[in-house]
Amino acid sequence: MDNRTNDLLNRQINIEFYSAYLYLAMSTYFSEINMDGFAKFMKKQAKEELEHAQKIYDYLLLRDKKITYQRIEAPDTDWISALDVLDDAIEHEKTVSAKINELYRVAKETDDYATMNFLDWFVEEQLEEEEKFRILREKIKAFDECSCTLEAMDRELNKE
Ligand code: FEO
Repeated sequence: MDNRTNDLLNRQINIEFYSAYLYLAMSTYFSEINMDGFAKFMKKQAKEELEHAQKIYDYLLLRDKKITYQRIEAPDTDWISALDVLDDAIEHEKTVSAKINELYRVAKETDDYATMNFLDWFVEEQLEEEEKFRILREKIKAFDECSCTLEAMDRELNKE
């Protein structure tokens, strides 16, 4: 594995941890405004992000590569509505997708087929995550944040 790929995979572990931190902060926001279904949804996303970090960590161990630790940034938490939160989540996932693509490009340039194969799962996962957040955002937008429909959505999410 090329050193650049090793570095980028370590950066990606950090990004996944940051994602978990961000979604946990979003979960807190929803808990504080008593939208427990949305809070539960975001908490589940945070857990998935930790699993993504773990997956990359395990892959680096498998390849006998260096694992480095970096500072995890604090997320901005000045959201003003559910729509605002979902906008941020979508923007964040787009950034993550771009980072995965960058990693894939470097692996490809260096003929690292094992890493390309490993990253295929992440490419697919990013599509799903962007879609999941986008659908939720569209539903919120369609209801124009009418409190009664948001409450109904919240109850639905709480059942999942
Ligand atoms: Fe692991 Fe949502 O990116």
